[in-house]
Amino acid sequence: MIHEADRMKRLPLYLFTIMDELKAKARAKGVDVIDLGMGSPDQPTAPHIIEELCKQAKILGNQRYSRTDGTIEKDLRKSIAKWYYDRFEVKLDPETEVLPLIGSKEGIAHLALTFLNNDDIALVPNPAYPVHFNGAIMAGGILYSIPLNAENGYKPDLWNLPDDVLRMAKLLFLSYPHNPTTATVDLGFFEDVVKWAKGKDIIVGHDLAYSDITFEGFKAPSFLQVKGAKEIGIEFHTLSKSYNMAGWRIAFAVGNSQILRSLAKTKSYIDFGIFRAIQAAACKALSGPQDGVAKTVEEYRKRRDILIDGLNKIGWKIPKPKATFYVWARIPLKYRALTSMEFATLLVEEVGVAVAPGTGFGEYGEGFVRFALVEDGKRLKEACARIKKVLERES
Ligand SMILES: Cc1ncc(COP(=O)(O)O)c(C=O)c1O
Repeated sequence: MIHEADRMKRLPLYLFTIMDELKAKARAKGVDVIDLGMGSPDQPTAPHIIEELCKQAKILGNQRYSRTDGTIEKDLRKSIAKWYYDRFEVKLDPETEVLPLIGSKEGIAHLALTFLNNDDIALVPNPAYPVHFNGAIMAGGILYSIPLNAENGYKPDLWNLPDDVLRMAKLLFLSYPHNPTTATVDLGFFEDVVKWAKGKDIIVGHDLAYSDITFEGFKAPSFLQVKGAKEIGIEFHTLSKSYNMAGWRIAFAVGNSQILRSLAKTKSYIDFGIFRAIQAAACKALSGPQDGVAKTVEEYRKRRDILIDGLNKIGWKIPKPKATFYVWARIPLKYRALTSMEFATLLVEEVGVAVAPGTGFGEYGEGFVRFALVEDGKRLKEACARIKKVLERES
């Protein structure tokens, strides 16, 4: 008999796998599925980044294992530090306060593995990007969910947590602009978090994956812009979204050097770093022309408007998000008796539109679905027309 470890059995059902099966079934029946389920960017990586990858891949030395003290590795850490300073005026020591990752998902999971004992709590706002809670479960720690909802502005109430929970808490995950709810915060919120965390021995991990995907002039702050933040936490960033490099698997963590040293230690037992040609291409992405980022964001803005205006017109009222390439939508009144999984199933089975069920991001995501704006405007209009049929159907 083959038995997974108990901690693996504690993982919640991965609803995205079920959605994948539903999409496959619909496609097998000949349905042209409009896939707004996964947050996998569909726009292209900029040509100068791809050219650098191709050039660097041909160099023999780059085909060997990556080494922390290699030239490309050092250049990448410097490029990240410079990018952070240019963006947020946060000063980082490239040697001790920057750690490249094979995607931020990898780094977040390994942060939990690095710091959680069996009797340590990870405080995780819920709903959340799944690795924020699944990482803690896989590490064998205790997960404590903090509900996010429209009433609390999708911000966790850290100030009323029970004392025994606080005593056992070792990690807090945050992420703004927020996936899936699209909520944003200002620097004042991070200032309050830093004040709250001081003297508590709780490590704060802030996931800033969507810092660049913002609209109408909104600028997402970095947690590290707060004085004292570097003493208690680290921030994750990724090239997946800003530079349309999701498949390349490159991201980084920055901030507290002690936390990063421990995270690097875990990684040194598990991986051999990032393909050096990808690291060189990432340097080009971070330090080269940034007009591709603006173009990407403008395309998401157009898509956001097409989808939300289209849904509003058919009676599904949703506010426009200030950031991320998602739309977080309360299930329309007519279908509110259904769970988010049932409603997502209905959309894919009946009209071939795939969305993510809110509970894929935790139990407090119930009552909502998430649209990812990863198909073009024409397809989004078509999605609205198909959804209209579901909303106007006689029950
Ligand atoms: C909040 C958040 N963090 C991290 C990730 C994963 O990023 P990466 O591709 O760097 O692993 C995602 C991907 O959707 C995300 O939404």
